[in-house]
Amino acid sequence: MAWPYCAFVGFFLLGAVVSTAATDAEVDQRVEALLSRMTLDEKIGQMSQSDRLMTPFSDEVRQLIRQGRWGSLFNAGNPAERAEAQRIARTETRLGIPILFGRDVIHGYRTIFPIPLGQAATWDPDIVEQAGRTAAREASAEGIRWTFAPMIDIARDPRWGRIAESPGEDPYLASIFAAAMVRGFQGTSLADPSAIAACAKHFAGYGAAEAGRDYNSTWIAEILLRDVYLRPFHAAVDAGVASFMTSFNALNGVPSSGNEFLLRRILRDEWKFPGLVVSDYQSITEMTLHGYAADARDAAREAANAGVDMEMVSTAYFDHLKSLVSSGAVAGKTIDDAVRHILRLKFLLGLFDAPIPAAQTVTVTPESLAVAQKAATESVVLLKNDQNLLPLSDTVGSLAVIGPMADAPVDQLGTWTIDWRTEDVRTPLAELRQMLGNGRVLYAPGLKTSRDSSHDGFAAARDAADRADAAVLFLGEEQILSGEARSRAFLNLPGAQEELVEEVAKAGKPVVAVIMAGRPLTFHDTAARAGAILYAWHPGTMGGPAIADLLFGRAVPSGRLPVTFPRAVGQVPIYYAHLNTGRPASASELGIPMGTPAKPTGYTSKYIDVDVTPEYPFGYGLSYTNFTYENLRLSAPSVAMGGSLTISADIANRGRREGTEVVQLYIHDVVASVAQPVRLLKGFRRVALKPGEMRTVSFAIRTEDLAFYNQQMKLVTEPGRFEVWIAPDAEHGIKGEFVVK
Ligand code: NOJ
Repeated sequence: MAWPYCAFVGFFLLGAVVSTAATDAEVDQRVEALLSRMTLDEKIGQMSQSDRLMTPFSDEVRQLIRQGRWGSLFNAGNPAERAEAQRIARTETRLGIPILFGRDVIHGYRTIFPIPLGQAATWDPDIVEQAGRTAAREASAEGIRWTFAPMIDIARDPRWGRIAESPGEDPYLASIFAAAMVRGFQGTSLADPSAIAACAKHFAGYGAAEAGRDYNSTWIAEILLRDVYLRPFHAAVDAGVASFMTSFNALNGVPSSGNEFLLRRILRDEWKFPGLVVSDYQSITEMTLHGYAADARDAAREAANAGVDMEMVSTAYFDHLKSLVSSGAVAGKTIDDAVRHILRLKFLLGLFDAPIPAAQTVTVTPESLAVAQKAATESVVLLKNDQNLLPLSDTVGSLAVIGPMADAPVDQLGTWTIDWRTEDVRTPLAELRQMLGNGRVLYAPGLKTSRDSSHDGFAAARDAADRADAAVLFLGEEQILSGEARSRAFLNLPGAQEELVEEVAKAGKPVVAVIMAGRPLTFHDTAARAGAILYAWHPGTMGGPAIADLLFGRAVPSGRLPVTFPRAVGQVPIYYAHLNTGRPASASELGIPMGTPAKPTGYTSKYIDVDVTPEYPFGYGLSYTNFTYENLRLSAPSVAMGGSLTISADIANRGRREGTEVVQLYIHDVVASVAQPVRLLKGFRRVALKPGEMRTVSFAIRTEDLAFYNQQMKLVTEPGRFEVWIAPDAEHGIKGEFVVK
């Protein structure tokens, strides 16, 4: 349930939280009092947002602020300019309405955490919350009180560059992640000066862009929309997220910024969202290019009537709302409601009451770096470790450090980083030199960037590998290949990276590949040549120490894939929670090698030139120790509708090192009125186990947790048989069964 509804419910039903309810009522009173004094021009100003730079902070911009031209400014100015703009807004405008400063604080502010997809790979909501809290503290100290995060678009297509910003493919994991990010950004109260309002984006369906091409149309059947794409957004509302952002795409033919079904029926009527809705960047006027609005005026009418409270950057509201109101095409109440949402957030954030902030500049601190290092360490996924090649021994004489990502401070930060400083970033090369001493590290990048296709540096790289005891190759994607408008049709390691690996492998030394990328890549040949692979995403400021510690066993990998890794781009979209077909591939049809079409057999759902299974499944990740799963048991063989049951298993650490296992719970509704996915994640737990230690891990499942949308769009649990797994990933595990009566 969203704020302030929980407070009101508490007030009416329990009478126990009177003070919170009173605060909300007080806020509403202040909103109404202010609204009644505002002119239509002032209201429309509040509904307008700009990223107009305040550097130089011109007289024209000052004058526009005095006139109340913008309710919000984003990604604009430096702390001193923001403080000055706020002073003008508070003291020199007619009504003293403060500006809401927004920014894309996506995975850190000054301290950069792993990209969101990497944070999802931690399967650790606590560290995700801490990262959000740290980012909020830093951003708020520099005058930012609104972030355009979390991005919680379900992403099942690694061609889409923005998969980096997403929590991956699964609605359950994404929902947990969404709530953790909201808690982190907003803290316990928006009134806390270190809280920043979160923004659930992009509403909705943006991650399903056809062919993985950014901004492309999405066609999502309503059942799929509700059961998969909307679930994390609903979870964000339940967590009290303060705002929503629309998306660029047309959903089933209707652009999100004019989509009444999404913005009114689902968000306001069904979910009772009380917060602010902002458009995406120029997405209102882009509705003309979509072929949904005739011109900017028409677009303003569509957006306002659909329920977009604030327009980002384009000026359709500013230019046309006034005349749309006088002509009756947009009701005065529509404007008032939008302004209510905006003012309410400003009051809740305490912007009217707090002293005008002095300009200050934040720096990284030992605490912020510790959170960043922990998040980076937990995000790394060990994909392969033949013959326990990792961890490397401290006694290794010398180490060849090769590859374009070994010492690439900007690239290791990933997409959407604005406020970082180079001097804060610690690269793997710098860290390994510090750890081992300069003399033991033989550095030869081999390639200048990830896209470099020249072989000029190969000889030096090979020479380093020849002279060293082992080689670590830092491969992947540089920053600009990942993120918005960075869709790729090929998912291979770009440039001559595969050839570099081939050349280095010829030295015959143990080869470790560390891959830093914003998406799942296909790297089949490299995987075959390397003895061990660490997938490190774009790990952020502290990527270097995190990776060095993992390489040398000062930390043990515990990340798990939040997204399925394809063998080949032609398998995309590939995700674990697919439906079965009437003709699933048989076991004898698995294992088809990559490439050349095999002699076709059987009329089943498969490829003839690549195995139908993924390269690495969802939930997958190794450790430096090994875990066993035994003794699955259920508290009862059946459960009555409305009841719950407990599913347990014994997880043991059978190796020689301490490690953390991510124990996952999956279910399958065997027969239903709408066919259900072969597996669905319903729970997970990170469990730290000492060597030899065994722990019973239990999950409670209520029958309502098994609900899905039926053909009448009702969320229902149907009686019948359910399969259940407690598992290390989406393809394995120990299995049981229960019945819902
Ligand atoms: C466009 C992006 O889609 C959105 O995520 C971002 O917050 C805005 N630009 C503002 O930078």
